[in-house]
Formats: sequence, C-alpha cells, structure tokens
Amino acid sequence: MMFSKRIACIGAGYVGGPTMAVIAMKCPQYKVTVVDISEARIKAWQTDNLPIFEPGLLDVVKAARGRNLFFSTDIDAAIRESEVIFVSVNTPTKTFGEGAGKAADLQYWEKVAREIVRESRSPKIVVEKSTLPVKTAQTMENILNANDRKIHFEVISNPEFLAEGTAVQDLLEPDRVLIGSHETESGLRARQEIVDIYAKWVPRDRILTSNVWSAELSKLVANAFLAQRISSINSISALCEKTDANILEVARAVGMDSRIGNRFLNASVGFGGSCFKKDILNLVYICESYGLHEVAQYWESVLEMNEFQETRFVRAMIREMFNTIVGKRIALFGFAFKANTSDTRESPAIYIAKKLSREQARVVISDPKALDNARIDLAELEGITYQEDPYQAAVGAHAVAIMTEWDLYRTLEWEKIFDVMEKPAFLFDGRNIVDHERLFKIGFNVYPLGRPPLKHF
Ligand SMILES: NC(=O)c1ccc[n+]([C@@H]2O[C@H](COP(=O)([O-])OP(=O)(O)OC[C@H]3O[C@@H](n4cnc5c(N)ncnc54)[C@H](O)[C@@H]3O)[C@@H](O)[C@H]2O)c1
Repeated sequence: MMFSKRIACIGAGYVGGPTMAVIAMKCPQYKVTVVDISEARIKAWQTDNLPIFEPGLLDVVKAARGRNLFFSTDIDAAIRESEVIFVSVNTPTKTFGEGAGKAADLQYWEKVAREIVRESRSPKIVVEKSTLPVKTAQTMENILNANDRKIHFEVISNPEFLAEGTAVQDLLEPDRVLIGSHETESGLRARQEIVDIYAKWVPRDRILTSNVWSAELSKLVANAFLAQRISSINSISALCEKTDANILEVARAVGMDSRIGNRFLNASVGFGGSCFKKDILNLVYICESYGLHEVAQYWESVLEMNEFQETRFVRAMIREMFNTIVGKRIALFGFAFKANTSDTRESPAIYIAKKLSREQARVVISDPKALDNARIDLAELEGITYQEDPYQAAVGAHAVAIMTEWDLYRTLEWEKIFDVMEKPAFLFDGRNIVDHERLFKIGFNVYPLGRPPLKHF
C-alpha cells in the first residue's frame, strides 16, 4: 500500500506508544513506525501483552498494528524513511553535576538529535513530544542544522497532555492539542503539517497553535498547576484534621465555585507519577537560572507540601499503632501511583513502603496491575512480600493502608477482611475512597484523610 506520509516516533514508552497507536488508527493513510533502543519493549508492543497497561489500548493497537502501525528497533531506517519524526524519549531529572536534582537530563535528547542528523538524507520535521525545558528547541536546531549536507530541519513543539490511566480517551478526545512552531515561512508550513495530522479526528477549535517557546512552557505550567491543586487540597486536609472540619465537605463547597471548579480536589497521600515532580523541578531550575528566586520558591513549595503529606501519613500510622510497628504485618492496598495504570514511578507507595520497612514492619504489597514494577522499586528491601489478592494480603495484618484509588477497593467485602486481620484492626485510607462509617461499624479503627478518625478506643 502507498502511504501519503511516513511518521516515525523515537521512544516507545507511556507517551510514544499510545499516541502513535491512536494516530495510526485514525490516519490509515500514514505509515507510523515506533522505534526504541529497548528490544524488550519493542517485542512486547508486537504481542498482545503490551509493555504498559492502559484501558482500551490493546484494541487501538490491534486496529492498526501490521496495517500502518509498526514497532521496530531499527531506529536509523525509521529516521531515513520518515518526513515527520516525533521524539518521545524520557527526560528525567539530572542526577549529577550542574543542576543535579532539578534540571532535566537532556543526554537522551541530544543523542537522538545527533542520530537524526547522521541518518537523514532529506528535510524532516522533528516534533518534540517529550516534556522539555523552555528553549530546548533552540539547542535541537543548533545540533540538527549544523549538518554539512545542507538538509533543513524544522523543530516543532507538540507537548503531550494525556494522563496515564485515561490515555486512550485523552488522545481520542483531547481537551486541546498544542502545536508550537517558529513563526517563519518554513515554521508555519511545518506547523500546518502537524495540524493536518491531528485534524483527522480532533475538532479544529481544539488544536491550538503558538510559538515554540509558549508550547514548551505551557506543558511545564500545566503540570505545575495540576500538582499545585493537589498540594493545596492536601495542605487543607492537615488543617481539617486539627479543626474537626471535613475535607470532603470543604472540597465540595469550594469546588462548586465555578471560578475554582470541582476537579482535582481529592485529598490524598500525595501525587506521584513520572512527570509532576520532575516538571516542577525543571520549572524551578529555569526560574532560578533567570534569577527569579521568588517564583522558584513558590513552585518548590508545591513539592514540599507533597513530601509533607507522605511523611505525615506514615507518621500517623506509626503513632496510632501504639508507636511501634516492629514485626507487625501491614498490607498496602495499591502500589501504582494512580488507578488504571501499572506505572509506579514516584508513587507515594514507594516512600511509604520503605519507611514502614525501615521501622521493621512486615510489609505486604497488593495491586491488581503494578506488582512487577513494585518488585523492581523495592528490590533493595528485604522481607517485603507481594500478594495480588487483597483478601490474602490482609491475613494476619494489623493494618491495611489504601495507597491507590483502584475501584476494586471500594467494593471489597470488608467484613471478610476484618475477620482475618489481627485486632485491633486499623484502616488508613490514603485516598478517601471507602465508606468510613461502614468500616467503623464493622470494627475497624478508621483513619481517613482530612476527617477525624473513627476509633473504638
Ligand atoms: N507518562 C506520562 O504520563 C507523560 C505525559 C505527558 C508527557 N510525558 C513526557 O513524555 C516523555 C516520555 O515519557 P514516557 O512516560 O513515555 O517515558 P518512558 O520512559 O515510558 O519512555 C521513553 C522511551 O524512550 C526510549 N529511549 C530513550 N532513549 C532513546 C534513544 N536514544 N533512542 C530510542 N529510544 C530511546 C526508552 O527506552 C523508553 O522506552 C517525557 O518527557 C515525559 O515527561 C509523559
């Protein structure tokens, strides 16, 4: 079959895989090739046992795989044959040297840029899909356009706003797609080419265009605002616990103000995921490097509040269980950083499991999708056990702590769980998802977030 356009995507992760699968499904006239240095990941994309769990993803992949969607480790071939190259490699926080702990580590990016230059024999549009510090496109262009073959590369910023757990839905019906380009003739032409891809299924008024720097910065700012909302409600949950106010009632009253809105107002044990922390650190680093220390401090406090929430959750567990958890079995229900994903990157459960284990508790981890990742995250700790079935995990436990808002936990037969636990039985709800009064009646001592505990003693 003749394809009207060839698209490559470098990086077959949580963003590259689902995004390209949706583009391929919606645009059968394009050939879409997703490449990665990880052979294991590419192999998994070629099977029905995909490397990531995302509701609905397998159906989308199956609709296009082998037709116009291909997964490969031949990065050079994909670069050579494609007119458009999305780059969706990871951009973690730097762990060494200047900017360590804050700045983005751009070594993967630069490697990719150099590979694109080396292999290209014709002009390309290079699309930044990864989240990058503002002004990265400049560096990209400097590397790309310093080639002696006089090939022109146009860099576009098209940050991805999908949320894990709802990635397919977010890609099929995005709130908006953002495409930033230079406002030169060739920049605007390239911008139009990318607009045309999304316009195959996204209403035109949801496709925003801007200059490159606005697009790069908007992604960092969107994540910073989302994280800020979680930290804001979490900070108030601490105050509610001191004042007998109820965070659910406060969130409802505040959220009904149409200027504020009611989403992202659930108090929790803290936010996780690969993006919020690293993107805020990145924003903080950029602000500092421009001498905007007050702005940097303001955003850094969002992260401090998140750490405070994790710390006070685990401290409360220890305090309420009579100030010692040595030898006590504690079941963590959920390990993924949010529901409907297998991703555990930066999950608050990692911190909490480590802290409980250092206090010599016997920690058992339960999760319907994330146990493989949990085993990797906690590999350094001895004595952790893993049990997918929550009923088994609870056997002999002094406490259950809910870490992830999986629907499954809302509908458990909590009487059965209570029966197999040690007494007094403790329930720490890090997501406020169970019926606290009902569990209290069953016999649990219940510790919600941002509400007074319900105790039998
Ligand atoms: N995960 C999310 O929810 C999300 C949402 C929006 C944006 N983002 C951003 O998208 C980017 C990718 O995130 P992700 O979660 O998909 O990361 P990921 O770690 O799941 O995937 C990145 C992939 O890139 C591959 N890779 C690294 N260097 C490579 C190279 N030189 N050549 C080929 N492949 C290479 C890795 O092997 C890996 O499979 C990040 O910048 C992230 O901030 C992520």
